[in-house]
Amino acid sequence: MDKQIVLLPGDGIGSEVIHSARQVLDAVTERFNHTFTYHTHDIGGSAIDKHGTPLPQDTVSACEQADAILLGAVGGPKWDQNPSHLRPEKGLLGIRKALGLFANLRPIKGFPQLLHASPLKHEVVEGSDLLIIRELTGGLYFGTPSERSHDGKSVVDTLAYDRSEMERIIDNAFKSARLRRKHVTSVDKANVLESSKLWREVVEEKKAEYPDVTVEHLLVDAAAMKLITAPTQFDVMVTENMFGDILSDEASVLTGSLGMLPSASIRDDGVGLYEPVHGSAPDIAGQGIANPLAMILSTAMMLRHSFHMKEEAQVIEDAVQQVLEDGYHTKDLDVKGGQLVGTVEITKQVIEHVTSQ
Ligand code: NAI
Ligand code: MG
Repeated sequence: MDKQIVLLPGDGIGSEVIHSARQVLDAVTERFNHTFTYHTHDIGGSAIDKHGTPLPQDTVSACEQADAILLGAVGGPKWDQNPSHLRPEKGLLGIRKALGLFANLRPIKGFPQLLHASPLKHEVVEGSDLLIIRELTGGLYFGTPSERSHDGKSVVDTLAYDRSEMERIIDNAFKSARLRRKHVTSVDKANVLESSKLWREVVEEKKAEYPDVTVEHLLVDAAAMKLITAPTQFDVMVTENMFGDILSDEASVLTGSLGMLPSASIRDDGVGLYEPVHGSAPDIAGQGIANPLAMILSTAMMLRHSFHMKEEAQVIEDAVQQVLEDGYHTKDLDVKGGQLVGTVEITKQVIEHVTSQ
């Protein structure tokens, strides 16, 4: 199958992990006889340096024509003092918006070899395997007005949603649940917020279309607590933008390994942007020690969601699992014994399993 993939390395370790991901994809295309064409473009701080903007038009145009996009990470101390329109993260927010990517998917799965690195007790996190789906285009981050009064003594932010924005993300959650353990937890604050009352209505309505999926409503404060006391009880969790922002970061510590977590921002026609949850790690950039596994697992998400290549995705995920089982790990993973290796070597190990499975 011929696919067009845009690569956005971004800043810091972004280019290092993108390079690894590309090599793993090359091994996949060889094994399965696909043709992927890659187009590399600038975003974030490196785009500011080269083009004077975090999101050049050229990058947007390339992404608009792509079947999928892989992004490393953006940001770094070099641009921290920049005015807000010249901030690297503007590039990321801008591209998500330009492409209409409305759902952020974060799967969180504990790898048995890494569970001891979790701040939570082994028996609490063992077996957790959940998917957090966060709405990305509405809510407090985009509502207007969002401003300070003239005297500076009062402020307003607006939590606004259209019913249609709720319907498409909630529908996505039910569909995702069907591919998993068929349970949806909808998170809201329906005891206080009008927006949450409508959200709950939409969930109740959608439920009828998916009789095979069970649904539970949870208030966001209770959800925050349950995530760290009983994470194994979740399958798919769906929620609005800000609740999702907070809960997905909370959930990312369950496994104790930032370097292992992939994510996707998608829309309904299958186009998506795939990136690791971690940032550009300026403290270790250029040292050859970045853990590329989150980026590599993000490519597996791309294969599954955007290209419907289930078997190919599984081959990558199994390869990552096997590399950990073999005892290979990068410095960020708190593993005793085994083999401590750098970016190049761990990538090579993944490729060997992809080729030989
Ligand atoms: P970070 O995720 O870049 O790093 C946090 C810590 O984890 C650092 O000690 C880093 O060395 C380590 N780490 C992260 N990913 C790693 C990997 N793959 N392998 C080995 N170690 C890894 O978060 P931080 O330090 O808060 O932010 C650094 C920059 O990244 C900032 O400019 C921030 O704005 C940006 N950022 C960008 C994101 C994105 O592009 N989606 C997301 C989060 C932060
Ligand atoms: Mg966040």
